[in-house]
Amino acid sequence: MFETSSIEINQEAYRNNIEFIKNQCGPGVRFCSVVKGNAYGHGILTFVKMAIDVGVDYFAVYSTDEAYRIRSQISDQVDVMIMGNTDNQALQWSIENGIEIFVFDLERLRQAIDFAKASNKKAKIHIEVETGMNRTGFLLEQLQEVLKIIKENDKHIDLIGFCTHYAGAESLVNDFRVQQQIQHFEEAKIMLANADLKAKYIHSACSAAMINYPETVGDLVRIGIMQYGFWPNEETLIRFNGHSRETDQTLKRLISWKSQIMAVKKVMKGEFVGYNTSYQAYADITIGVIPVGYAFGYSRSLSNSGKVLIRGVEAPICGIVNMNALCVDITHLPEVAKGDEVVLIGNQGDSTITVASFGEMSNQLNYELLTRLPHDIPRKII
Ligand SMILES: Cc1ncc(COP(=O)(O)O)c(C=O)c1O
Repeated sequence: MFETSSIEINQEAYRNNIEFIKNQCGPGVRFCSVVKGNAYGHGILTFVKMAIDVGVDYFAVYSTDEAYRIRSQISDQVDVMIMGNTDNQALQWSIENGIEIFVFDLERLRQAIDFAKASNKKAKIHIEVETGMNRTGFLLEQLQEVLKIIKENDKHIDLIGFCTHYAGAESLVNDFRVQQQIQHFEEAKIMLANADLKAKYIHSACSAAMINYPETVGDLVRIGIMQYGFWPNEETLIRFNGHSRETDQTLKRLISWKSQIMAVKKVMKGEFVGYNTSYQAYADITIGVIPVGYAFGYSRSLSNSGKVLIRGVEAPICGIVNMNALCVDITHLPEVAKGDEVVLIGNQGDSTITVASFGEMSNQLNYELLTRLPHDIPRKII
């Protein structure tokens, strides 16, 4: 309520991105919105509510805690899949509440069957296949046994998905590895068919795979970064349409991050600004102080290099980004006053600070930078 900055999420931009993704996949493909990592920093609860309004009805999370928050605070009507951890009580709760779970080891498969028997509910599972990412998933050698167990327990199991995940579909350097993964997944699908089993969805595509390997789209896509309006990397954008990141309008960013000027002050030529001596006033200058620092997700590595927007004009950061505050040079903006809006990410007038350029300045990927935005910054839909 008294926070020093706020995040706005643009619903129209989201509609645009969903339309693009659906066109890209073609008819009959189920869209699953990946909302792990606090919906890539957009705020899981705010974001999921907005996405439901736009017609999205399937969400992928990493932890049972995220699934629990969606179920208990938003809706018991949407489908939710947990792609990561769910053990013991969490597994039991998931099965009792119709949450779908990734299963990638025999212990979890057996536990899921036991909980399903005990609660008289079918366990909704996605069998994850290890095709070369070397993270989670059953090896092809294990699959026969897994499929046999599923068949023997079909009264207790709903085989919702049969899936895998690619290790770097965004970069051509990984092409050989991804092609091998696609091949291994094909072999796994044959094993599924030979076992006379059918999964409701066969799925493997994340954002980059959907664009760079359209043959991976299958029955369902698990899309994270692109729904938020970001390309997985610049290479994927260039492979897609050759446009530079600056001019591309295909996807629209949802997020803006704003604060305001907390104080304005004069600094005489030769004086230093903030801690230490990293910034010395080149003339008599005016600085604006903004109540956002690295404790609020604004990277310290943007010290003396980041920029913000005030009155539609860029203002460079001077000195070190502090824990709770940063200073910008506003000598060229004599009208700026306490209380003026400051855009840390997003548009003001005709200018933009993109997360990508912000990320380049602070050497963080879009994914990392977004998910690091603190949970307690208030998010609102515009
Ligand atoms: C298993 C799985 N599927 C899908 C995604 C979504 O990826 P992206 O945000 O690149 O679309 C992720 C994200 O890392 C993931 O781990």
